[in-house]
Amino acid sequence: MNTELIDQLTPSVGANGLPYHIPIHPNLVHLTLGLFIIGIAFDIAGALFPFQRPIFKFLALTATRSNFFDVGWYNVLASAIITFFTVASGFYEMLLATPSPDVVSAWGLHALDTMVWHGVGGVLLLTLIVGMAIWRGFQRYAWRKERGRQVQWSYLIAGLLILFLMFLQGTLGAHLGGEFGVHVTADYLLRSGEDPNSILK
Ligand code: HEM
Repeated sequence: MNTELIDQLTPSVGANGLPYHIPIHPNLVHLTLGLFIIGIAFDIAGALFPFQRPIFKFLALTATRSNFFDVGWYNVLASAIITFFTVASGFYEMLLATPSPDVVSAWGLHALDTMVWHGVGGVLLLTLIVGMAIWRGFQRYAWRKERGRQVQWSYLIAGLLILFLMFLQGTLGAHLGGEFGVHVTADYLLRSGEDPNSILK
């Protein structure tokens, strides 16, 4: 974004280009990703439970099938809630981003393309995660309440496809930080000709 506008927005931005020391978005993304991954993984484990039963028996583990589905449901629900904050913080930090304009990422994209794809991808993922949580809720509390396998195979397949989209989204995000130096303190100091070690002194 235009640096003059950024100055108007936040007269007190620090060395990382943000009005606070540690970017919020990169912390929240790991909750979005982690909670969703665990949610789908535990539902897969619950769905395949009959095949795993002899292993649990051999290991003397008292695993109960419904507990796997509890973990699956609550993690996807938590991911849906937290992702609103992930996306909101992403928009705010994108607004204050001043990426290196000449750099091309490992995927051959410039900063602007990467930001646009990452922004659109983020909104798409939020929609999909919320949709998955609603779908999961219907399976748990209505459609499959009495069934041993609480989740439909189509739900698990959709979850795996979303995990692939998350890989693309996460890599674009990593390019923003790692290759374009967005909100990376050392990167900003080097670009402005300062010594990153100076802030430690
Ligand atoms: C589900 C949604 C999203 C996921 C999973 C996600 C994931 C990521 C990841 C993994 C990073 C790299 C973090 C790091 O370097 O440690 C990142 C960085 C970034 N993302 Fe996202 N992102 C999402 C949505 C968005 C949205 C909607 C925007 C803005 C429109 C956005 C803007 C940014 C920015 C500006 C960065 C650079 C670091 C920063 O300034 O915070 N993200 N994202």
